[in-house]
Parts: sequence; structure tokens; C-alpha cells
Amino acid sequence: MSWDRVINIKTPAEIQLMREAGRINHEALQAARAAIQPGVTTADLNAIAEEVLRKHGAFSPFLNYPGPTPYPASICTSVNEELVHGIPGKRKLVEGDIITMDCGTVFKGFVADSAITVGVGEISGAAQMLIEVTEGALQAGITKMVPGLHVGDVSAAIQDYVESRGYYVTRVYTGHGVGKQMHEGPQVPNYGQAGAGLELKAGMTIALEPMVLIGTPDTRVLRDGWTVISVDRSLTAHYEHSVAITEEGPLILTIS
Ligand code: MF3
Ligand code: CO
Repeated sequence: MSWDRVINIKTPAEIQLMREAGRINHEALQAARAAIQPGVTTADLNAIAEEVLRKHGAFSPFLNYPGPTPYPASICTSVNEELVHGIPGKRKLVEGDIITMDCGTVFKGFVADSAITVGVGEISGAAQMLIEVTEGALQAGITKMVPGLHVGDVSAAIQDYVESRGYYVTRVYTGHGVGKQMHEGPQVPNYGQAGAGLELKAGMTIALEPMVLIGTPDTRVLRDGWTVISVDRSLTAHYEHSVAITEEGPLILTIS
């Protein structure tokens, strides 16, 4: 059975454990964010996030994640035209770059997964707008994460937010349920029809992750087997939160 078929409903106690994982994940991302400046390498950012996880007795579900080759790091660092799954290494950030850091945490048996896109020093107005639209799209999707609405309502909210501003969402990479595994059902695309798809229920926990492109929605994977870039090499951005659907509304897990 493929990962997207299994939907595990969490108890309030399990959601509290996921909240703890989410807090640690937020701390790791913020520590890495604070280190961003020209000259820093993406491997440095990975080491900083990893140290925060280690300090809490947590670890990243990304490390050794199965793929064409096991994923070799604890976070993904995707610079400029790199949309997702960039591998940390010797690359030095330069003023004007934008970098997405995607981090996962396993703590007390539960996973948190979150991503942010950040500018390095002064960035162009176009880059700033792209980042704001992507973060706004995530918030627009989260607003629809209430019991009784459907996956399509979340997907359509993201798509409408992005496309009405003249940008594109990827058709290839999606949000996903998250829990004891990093990837569970349901799959939550960044495009769709309002009212369509699975009905959302309290206790579902979903990593929502709009990935936004400027020129075209098309992507390709580099020869490292992981790094996904825009085909036209224009800038891209990605935001992600792990969110619990509760009777009281959406509860963002990956914040302080
Ligand atoms: N946030 C990404 C995801 O949900 C991170 C996966 S990177 C990997 O798929 F290396 F672990 F695959
Ligand atoms: Co994810």
C-alpha cells in the first residue's frame, strides 16, 4: 500500500506530542535562519539545525530518507531556482539569494515538517513578492483546514491565492499527512477544486506546503537525484507548516 492511502487520526494527546516536535522544528529553523548571511554555506545551516535537534534528543526524518540515493542531510537547502530538496554543501550564500530551508523533526515518535524561504541580505522586489505570495498561500490554505471542508477546498485556496497574483504552483509535489511517518495520507496538492476530495476530520494532521514558481510551473530534477529546479531557472519559493485539524479550527504545530 502506498503512503498516501493511510490516514491516521490522532488523539488530542498525540497532537500535543506533535506540537512538541513542531516546537523543536521551529527552533531549528529559526536558529538556521539567524545564521543566514553572505558567506555562510548551506552545510553550515544544516549543522546548526541538526545541533538544535540533537540538543533536544530529536533527529531529522530526512536523513537517509529513501530515494535515488538515501537523502544525505537533516534539512533541505534550496537556493534561488531550486524549488525543493536541495542538498546542503559547500555552496556559499551571496547577497540577493533566496534560500528555502525545509526541516523535519522526529521527537517522541512523531514527526514535524516545516519550511521557510528567506532572503540573504538585500533581495530584489520580485524575490520579496514571491516569498510573500508563497507565505500568504500557506496561510490561505491553513484557513480551510477545518472539519467538514474537503482537501479540494485547501488545494483550491492555495491555487487561487497564487494564480490570482500571476504565479504558478507545482503540479508535481504536494502536501501530505504527517504523524508517526513523515508521509501519510491524505495527499494535499497545491491545486484543485473547492468541495472536491476527501472530507477533513478533526485529528487529521497535515503538512501543507505551497511551492511557487514565477515563469512556468515546470520543474526538473538535477543529476544529484534530489534537487528540484524550475526549468526556466527563475526564482522559486516554498513554505510549509504541519497543521492539526481540530474542532476548534486549524492548529499550527510548527511554531514556537
Ligand atoms: N518537506 C519535504 C517533504 O515533505 C522534505 C522531504 S526531504 C527528504 O517531502 F529528503 F526527506 F525527502
Ligand atoms: Co513535507
